[in-house]
Amino acid sequence: MAIPVIDFSKLSGEDRAKTLALIHNGCEEWGFFQLVNHGISEELLERVKKVSSEFYKLEREENFKTSTTVNLLNELVEKNNRDKVDTVDWEDVYLLSDNNEWPSKTPGFRETMAEYRAQLKKLALKLMEVMDENLGLPKGYMNKAFNGGGGEEETAYFGTKVSHYPPCPQPEMVNGLRAHTDAGGVILLFQDDQVNGLQILKDGEWIDVQPIKNSIVINTGDQIEVLSNGRYKSVWHRVLALPDGNRRSVASFYNPSYKATIAPAQQLVEKSNKEVNQDYPEFVFGDYMCVYTEQKFLPKEPRFQAVKPTVLSPCH
Ligand code: OGA
Ligand code: NI
Repeated sequence: MAIPVIDFSKLSGEDRAKTLALIHNGCEEWGFFQLVNHGISEELLERVKKVSSEFYKLEREENFKTSTTVNLLNELVEKNNRDKVDTVDWEDVYLLSDNNEWPSKTPGFRETMAEYRAQLKKLALKLMEVMDENLGLPKGYMNKAFNGGGGEEETAYFGTKVSHYPPCPQPEMVNGLRAHTDAGGVILLFQDDQVNGLQILKDGEWIDVQPIKNSIVINTGDQIEVLSNGRYKSVWHRVLALPDGNRRSVASFYNPSYKATIAPAQQLVEKSNKEVNQDYPEFVFGDYMCVYTEQKFLPKEPRFQAVKPTVLSPCH
């Protein structure tokens, strides 16, 4: 079994309806799909790979070797304790946003990533419009919800997480990244085309997200699940720690502003049964993130319950 692979260039042209249907199916049945012919040039993608790997070697590898994760595993092995560790991830992470400091030592890193992020943000917006259309919502509905309708601090958040999953000497003891669903909106992942490790939970089984050279893997987070009133469910995924290879992944995510109010689209609530108890409350995304930070690796339903207006949020 493999996640759907969709030719995004066919969205314009005679195969448009078919392509919309494939994306709808990808969102509804899988929560994960891969785009090829997505419009991001091979040349740019090759540069992203190059500067990301150089960045790791030059600015991250030394830190990782002395990280708490590596120390913890070393200590356990020394004590001959081979129990699975479920409190840490065998992952090196650097987050890029519009407002933080970017690495400066790796030649070309900043320029390349700025160019890449601009392209990916456009792709995220296109995908959200496709979702609007597939769900029968007005064009721009999701993006409007994400922008909270207000001032500059209420604009949607676009982040890029540059990760590496270095080879792990005890892969059975730890995860590269523990199983979770993503909190936000649309996630666009440029994963390694050599080293695998990413898996999604499909009908109770973990299946690999097959590496395809220069494809972009798309998945949807908890906020799309709420906005779509459960039609597009955020899907569980994890990254395995592996004994060989240093897996690179560059995950960009388009999320609501912390001040945005998120709720099921009324059009979609009416279509289902309004009488039955709503599964998803209306909440402010910042409050959701407060709960998510504490509960990321736990079952997701209690998170939606915890931000119900009647429940006193643990963060206030
Ligand atoms: C994440 C994630 C997958 C990957 O950062 O939420 O699921 O391949 N990443 O790095
Ligand atoms: Ni994730």
